[in-house]
Amino acid sequence: MKPEQNSEAIPHADPIAIFESWFAEAQKSEPNDPNAMALATATPDGLPSVRMVLLKGHGPDGFVFYTNFHSRKGGELAANGHVALLFHWKSLRRQIRIEGPITEVSAEEADAYFASRHPESRLGSAASDQSRPLPDRQVYLDRVAALRAEYPDGNVPRPAHWSGYRVTPAAIEFWQDRDYRLHERRRFVVDGAGGWTSSLLYP
Ligand SMILES: Cc1cc2nc3c(=O)[nH]c(=O)nc-3n(C[C@H](O)[C@H](O)[C@H](O)COP(=O)(O)O)c2cc1C
Repeated sequence: MKPEQNSEAIPHADPIAIFESWFAEAQKSEPNDPNAMALATATPDGLPSVRMVLLKGHGPDGFVFYTNFHSRKGGELAANGHVALLFHWKSLRRQIRIEGPITEVSAEEADAYFASRHPESRLGSAASDQSRPLPDRQVYLDRVAALRAEYPDGNVPRPAHWSGYRVTPAAIEFWQDRDYRLHERRRFVVDGAGGWTSSLLYP
């Protein structure tokens, strides 16, 4: 077995800074959507579900994604406001897990993000009854076309049920691929003083 150059590659402090650094690297190396993350939710009685969403904001305050609050995930989040997020960057052989409670972003924040989207994307999300049965794809396309006719400039208003959630991290875990599958894991948890403590975990 070859000797490792450095036995611990994941820093001990400031998981938000580590996230920023790894995310910046992923933006350079991933072929598409470096901000794609799996979002796990669960019903109050513990039945899980998971799907991909896009990270649209991040920092010490938390990790933001946008969706339709009337969707399946929206229903689960209304009843159980705890989630897990997962990034897997194949190009870097890295994984980040984030767990914590959610809060809704403000209407102003959601409006600003909605307004930044491509007009066709705004129409598409305004026309979508996300997660509801769709009898025929043409029904959805017709709804988009009707909204496009109503708002020719594409400035359809943000539906009140289309908004964002901010995940406040209570735990962040970094996983780095290492030779011979002797991988490295470091898990940070919020301590009582509002800071972070961390420890290595067996891989
Ligand atoms: C790469 C990728 C990114 C996605 N981003 C979002 C997103 O940001 N918001 C969203 O509501 N759905 C997004 N989706 C679609 C979701 O995975 C999912 O199909 C949809 O939100 C309905 O999920 P639900 O029925 O569990 O609520 C994305 C899908 C993929 C594959």
